Amino acid sequence: MADHIHPIFDQLVGRQEREKFLNQKSHVYWFTGLSGSGKSTVAKGVERMLFIKGYFVQVIDGDNVRSGLCNNLGFSMEDRAENIRRVAELAKLYLDSGVITLCSFISPTIAIRESAQQIIGENDFKEVYINTPVEVCEQRDVKGLYKKARAGEIKGFTGIDSPYEAPLNPAKEIITTDQSIEESVIEVFNFVIQESKFK
Ligand code: ADX
Repeated sequence: MADHIHPIFDQLVGRQEREKFLNQKSHVYWFTGLSGSGKSTVAKGVERMLFIKGYFVQVIDGDNVRSGLCNNLGFSMEDRAENIRRVAELAKLYLDSGVITLCSFISPTIAIRESAQQIIGENDFKEVYINTPVEVCEQRDVKGLYKKARAGEIKGFTGIDSPYEAPLNPAKEIITTDQSIEESVIEVFNFVIQESKFK
């Protein structure tokens, strides 16, 4: 940490006070999975359902963050690690504001996700694995990026010529090939709601 910087966290309105005010318990739900796996679709669906039920919730999404906060970063492992570091710090600020925070990032390696968990805190980091096999993502190819990766127009594409390491012990795993988007949304929603009751 730089010299002469004195964080004032103890003087701020505390997280517990904010959680009480919002009548909810905040955590960070960290959605990981391949590009086109359905992470953002499920996260947005869960956000909408929680909001309708009166919860205060925010999605932080790769495509949005990469057009602003992280617009100077590419897709080397180093840049991905920096992307996730910034996002984890941002998510921690939301967490401390009492907001239920849904982060949707490929975050391709175990080490990268562990670094996010370290920033956010072990008990507040809930890993949600959106498990869609690469063949299915490639077949859907919603953004046309797999085609470009196969043609060599995009280098270092996750699942094609850059690694993806699945979580070993996620808090929640959704196997999207077994069910509809709505069913996946409801499954994650039920999980989040259980964790979000203010006692
Ligand atoms: S991460 O690896 O740093 O976590 P992030 O989730 O922010 O990635 O961004 C992933 C999105 O960027 C993908 O859904 C896709 O739209 C786009 N993208 C562009 N180039 C790549 C690439 N080489 N690998 C993966 N995704 C890419």
